[in-house]
Amino acid sequence: MSGMARKIERIAVLWAGNMGAALIGGILKAGVAKAGQVTATARSEERAAEVARQFGVRATAGGNREAAAGSDLIILAVKATKIAGVLEEIREVLHEGQILISVAAAVPLQVIEAGVRRRMPVFRAMPNIPVVVEEGATAVAANGEATAEDRAVVERIFRAVGVVCFVEEEAMDAVTALSGSGPAYIYMVIEALIAGGLKMGLSHEVSTRLAEQTVLGAAKLVRETGLHPAILRDQVITPGGVTISAIHELERHGLRAMLISAVETATNHSRSRTRAMLEQMKHEG
Ligand SMILES: NC(=O)c1ccc[n+]([C@@H]2O[C@H](COP(=O)([O-])OP(=O)(O)OC[C@H]3O[C@@H](n4cnc5c(N)ncnc54)[C@H](OP(=O)(O)O)[C@@H]3O)[C@@H](O)[C@H]2O)c1
Repeated sequence: MSGMARKIERIAVLWAGNMGAALIGGILKAGVAKAGQVTATARSEERAAEVARQFGVRATAGGNREAAAGSDLIILAVKATKIAGVLEEIREVLHEGQILISVAAAVPLQVIEAGVRRRMPVFRAMPNIPVVVEEGATAVAANGEATAEDRAVVERIFRAVGVVCFVEEEAMDAVTALSGSGPAYIYMVIEALIAGGLKMGLSHEVSTRLAEQTVLGAAKLVRETGLHPAILRDQVITPGGVTISAIHELERHGLRAMLISAVETATNHSRSRTRAMLEQMKHEG
């Protein structure tokens, strides 16, 4: 990798499942690293072979220790329930100068730090599923060891698959509720718009195309104009027109209040899960 203050020669992606593979794809496509610099692991020979074939990287069934030992950036794309085991597996080979990124978004930094048992830069990232089409929204929290240069490396990785925001760790539950789970809410919106089109006699194909592009285009306009969505919404309304009659209906059914409550409820749910995880850690000493 060139043009970066912190030199990253080798990247390990432990557990190249959906998320791990999406990150490898982004890293290679954005030129953050070349295929020869990346090692991935999976559980089965089949998956390892598939990842090797797809990306041209070295991929092994197992081999987490070897991959971690030889890398200066380690991405843990491991299931939250398995992260303690994987950290135990790689702990002894961790060394000075490495950066650790966990995308097991629910796992607090404290848990990872306790698992590695050494002072090192650790990042907790919450990406969302559109990373597979390089339109992910990722929020990242860093521990106290991370420098500005480490952050720049991590930012490049996630920028390869979408947009990145750095947040304080306390914000992670709200992030999970907004962008982590958010695609599910928007799929429901798209689904319902399609159903509306169908109800009014549009074909499946036309309804789907128009609904998906409407969501995509509306989001793009928010991003590119930088205008508040309320202003953009107002621009679509003509007095006594069609749009305002629909908006009246959406307000009557509380669309906005519903989404605000959804994010609030999901944040609280995520908070209680985080608390439970920290409690469990305390009990296990
Ligand atoms: N997908 C998302 O949208 C998303 C979003 C945010 C965060 N995340 C986080 O990303 C992490 C991974 O999620 P995912 O959706 O990518 O999971 P996934 O698709 O189920 O991938 C799991 C992968 O791990 C491999 N694996 C299992 N045991 C292993 C072992 N002992 N050693 C090496 N590899 C092993 C499996 O290999 P085999 O195929 O060979 O069994 C599989 O490829 C989770 O912590 C999740 O919370 C995911």
